[in-house]
Formats: sequence, C-alpha cells, structure tokens
Amino acid sequence: MLQYALAADAARIQTCLDTHITGETDLSAAMRHALAGGKALRGFLVMETARLHDIEATHAVYPAAGIEALHAYSLVHDDLPCMDDDDLRRGQPTVHIKWDEATAVLVGDALQSLAFEMVLHPDGVADVAARSELGLRLARAAGQQGMVLGQALDIAAETADVPLNLEEITTLQAGKTGALFGWAATAGAVMANADPVPLQNYATALGLAFQIQDDVIDETGDVGTVGKAVGKDAAAGKATFVSLLGLEEAKSRASDLVEQACDSLSLYGETAETLRHLARFVISRQA
Ligand code: IPE
Ligand code: IPE
Ligand code: MG
Ligand code: MG
Ligand code: MG
Repeated sequence: MLQYALAADAARIQTCLDTHITGETDLSAAMRHALAGGKALRGFLVMETARLHDIEATHAVYPAAGIEALHAYSLVHDDLPCMDDDDLRRGQPTVHIKWDEATAVLVGDALQSLAFEMVLHPDGVADVAARSELGLRLARAAGQQGMVLGQALDIAAETADVPLNLEEITTLQAGKTGALFGWAATAGAVMANADPVPLQNYATALGLAFQIQDDVIDETGDVGTVGKAVGKDAAAGKATFVSLLGLEEAKSRASDLVEQACDSLSLYGETAETLRHLARFVISRQA
C-alpha cells in the first residue's frame, strides 16, 4: 500500500534530519517545527527512484532528507507576510507566527544549508561523483532558474496588468513546483549513473499535475482537512490553471498529465508500479 510506504519513508527521513539538527535554541526548535508533519512526497521520490536503481535506502535517505529540508525552507519563506502571508501550515502555526519573522527568515536560510549538507554528506551517497552531481543539480533546481524563479513569477503575477496565459503559467509552475520534483525523481538515476531522462519526463508531468491539484484544493478544500488556509489564490490574484481554465478543465488536464507521467515509465515496466500509484495519488489527494 502506497500510504504505508509513504509513512515508512517519511519516518526514516525525519529520523535522519533529527540527528543532524543539534542544539536547543529557538532556531533549532523552529527548524524541527518546520520539518514536521509533511507528506514527504519529494523525499519519497528520491527513496523510490533509488530503489528502482538498486541504491540502498541507508544511502538514499540522505538526499531524501536534503530535498525535504529544501522544500521546508521554501514553505517557511512562502508563508512569510511579504510572500503569501499565511498563519497555518501542516495544521500548525507557521514559523513567523509561532516565533517571529526574523526567526522564519533564518530558519529558511539554515534549512537550505542543511539540505546541501545532507545531499553532500559522506555517510550518504557513496559515489563521490554522483554525490557532487546531485549537489550541483539541486543548486540549479532550487535557484534563480528553478524554484526561486517560479516563486518570483508567482508573486509578480499577482499584480500583472494582463492575466498570465497557459504557457506562462506552465513556466511559473515548472519552476515553483516542478524543479524540486524533477530533482527528486531523477535522484535515483543520478546516484546510479543511469539515464535520468525517463524519470525527468515522469517528473515534469507529475509536478504540473501536483501543482494543479494544489490549486484545486485551494479552491475546493476545507481548512481542517488541508491544514493550511484555503481560498486564498483567487483573492490574491494568483495565476493558476484553475484561475485560467476553471475547475473542471484544470482537473481534466491534471488527469491527462498523470497518464503522461505513467507512460514515461514504460522502460521500468512493473518495477515502477509504486511511482504510478504515487502519480494517481497526487491528483486524488485532498491535502
Ligand atoms: C506544498 O507542497 C507546496 C507546494 C509546492 C504546492 P506539499 O503539498 O508537498 O506540502 P507538504 O510537504 O506535504 O506539507
Ligand atoms: C508554494 O506554492 C511553492 C513553494 C513553496 C516553492 P503555494 O504558495 O501554492 O504553496 P501553498 O499552497 O502555500 O502550500
Ligand atoms: Mg506561494
Ligand atoms: Mg503559499
Ligand atoms: Mg497553493
């Protein structure tokens, strides 16, 4: 069952992160808070694609922990008053609410550093060249051509004179969500020095489908289930597939994208069945 596999890997990733956050300061407490309670989908992609390439879980858990730290940093900063201004994340108060804004900025900074520490950690990926390739790829996926670019386009779209078109929204979402999904899903191939292209194709479609579902949940979800504020994208003038196409057309695109994602895995045959289940889960989830 996918849910058990997800929970088992999430726990393993959490343990790895816990052992690398030291000290009893406000900073360390707030970092632990920011890392707790997520679905760990990106970390799971690392673990699962590592399995596909016969990389041991004891090694793969390090880059899996790394991507979850990077993702947690992106959420802490995404929730800041100067960004989406959200008070609730994973059913808990956001870091700037429970502590303060300066702490939230610093927690994000420290989580980003922790992410690279995990990816490049000598106890993690054994092959030094593969480890450094993962580090380079993460720097590119996270930065000004990847997640941060997507976030910048997302914020700029709120005040754009003309609503973004389909191509522009696709570019925005490929950055803000797709880049980290792409890194995570190709990690197993990179660790094994295998061709990352089929997994990259899977991730491109999956990342877009995932973000469409996030936007659908914002429109239709309820705060108790979702664990974060809902109904904010439309109010803030966010550029999403839902804002452009409407709910039904957006859902239908997400479902086409999941089919596309599954088809990209043909090379792996039956061994990639869990990744196909994951793709279907991504658009059926309600949180
Ligand atoms: C939320 O990601 C942020 C987006 C990129 C839309 P997730 O839905 O994966 O968040 P957690 O980690 O499970 O809380
Ligand atoms: C956040 O996207 C994406 C990143 C943090 C990179 P959203 O702003 O849509 O995420 P939620 O809805 O707050 O989780
Ligand atoms: Mg945002
Ligand atoms: Mg947000
Ligand atoms: Mg959202």
